[in-house]
This record gives sequence, structure tokens and C-alpha cells, in this order.
Amino acid sequence: MQKITIAIDGFSSTGKSTVAKQIAKQLGYIYVDTGAMYRAVTYFAMQNKYIDKSHFDIEALVTSLHNIRISFKFNENLGFAEVYLNGINIEKEVRTLEVSSFVSQVATVPEVRYQLVKQQQKMGKDKGVVMDGRDIGTVVFPEAELKIFMTASAETRATRRFKELSERGDNVSYDEVLHNVKERDYIDSHRADSPLVKASDAIEIDNSNLSLQEQFDKILQLVNTALKAN
Ligand code: DC
Repeated sequence: MQKITIAIDGFSSTGKSTVAKQIAKQLGYIYVDTGAMYRAVTYFAMQNKYIDKSHFDIEALVTSLHNIRISFKFNENLGFAEVYLNGINIEKEVRTLEVSSFVSQVATVPEVRYQLVKQQQKMGKDKGVVMDGRDIGTVVFPEAELKIFMTASAETRATRRFKELSERGDNVSYDEVLHNVKERDYIDSHRADSPLVKASDAIEIDNSNLSLQEQFDKILQLVNTALKAN
């Protein structure tokens, strides 16, 4: 059967990845979490002390980009692919609020974006891919047959994220999480290189009041329509 490219973009913590993973599983497609790639670069920058609360040595990071190898490996038990940095599983490490607080800054660096976009285009070159991020429908795959733009209020997203982090045992407050969500929204949509914008041909889904099942059904319906049209 013929395969398409599905681009899912949107603000942070809209639950893109949860539904994207389910759709990919249903279709037998590859799922790529591009946010995890920006998080992996951020984690690398933190480990090498290129970034902290008071400074960001962009030049040092750019110079050492060739030392960063990001890969994904499917975990049968979890049912999704985990992210690896130079062969080491960093799936847990990249989800902390600390990484979240620096990642938007790292994602403004054009050289970082250039490298990651190239890798993402390679990963999806044969279609049959569900990719989620901020610039998939606009920059990575502007020709994607199906583009979805997910939104939800900042409060809804912070509540979800807070629950996730608390359940994992992270000691964070709701206010901190809400602040991080709003800060990332601002940086992601105001950066000069590939800001987060809805592609003109993307279909917007506000999932503030939608269950996961409802989102899944809606997207699957859109996939079927796109498959018929292509
Ligand atoms: O989806 P996420 O929250 O894990 O993404 C983390 C950050 O990475 C987000 O704040 C912006 C950046 N990002 C990006 O600039 N472009 C992408 N395609 C994916 C993520």
C-alpha cells in the first residue's frame, strides 16, 4: 500500500507525541520525535557546560556538533523508540524540567537546526513516517501529504505536563511548569530561524477538550482522506 508523510506540529505539551505514536503504530509507520533530538543536543550542551542558567556558549556548541550522534532504538516493552546520544540511552534524562528550560534556546541556533533537519529528512525520505515537532510541515517536509497543527490552552498543557512530571517523581510546582510552557511558546514562535507557525495547509486540532481516543479517531480519519487523495 502506498505511504504518506504525516507532519504533526504544535506548541509544547499539546500531547502531540502520544497521539503521533499511536497513529504510527496503527499504520505501521516510523515515528520520529524531533523534540527529543533538540533535547539530546541540549543535554549534550549541559553536560559539556556550554549552557547553564547564566551563560550559553553557542560557538563551543556549534564547534562540537560533529561529536553528537543521535539515534532512536525501539523499546519493545515501552512500545516506542527511545533516544540515544552517542550510543547511550538518554530518554529519561532529556525529559527533565532542566532540559526543558534550556531547549528552546538551543533550538534557536541555525547550525543546530540545519544538522537536525538534514537528519530528519533522511529518516523520512521513504515516507511512511509520522514526525512531530515545530517545523515539520513548514521546513522539514513542506510537501507532506497530511499536516496537523495541535493546540491547547497553556493552562491545559501545563496541567498535563505537571501531572506527568509529578508522577515521575520530579519535584516541581505547577507554577514553574506553567511558566516554562509559556516561555517556550514565546521563544519557539518568535525565533528568527524556522519559528513555530501553522503551515497554511495544516489542519488545526484544539485538543483542550478532546480525549486521546477522540484525537486518534479524528487524525485517522484525516489519514484515510489523505491516502485516498494521493
Ligand atoms: O516537543 P518538545 O517539547 O519535546 O520539544 C522541545 C523543544 O525543541 C521545543 O521547545 C522547541 C524545540 N523543537 C524545535 O524547535 N523544532 C522541532 N522540530 C522540535 C522541537
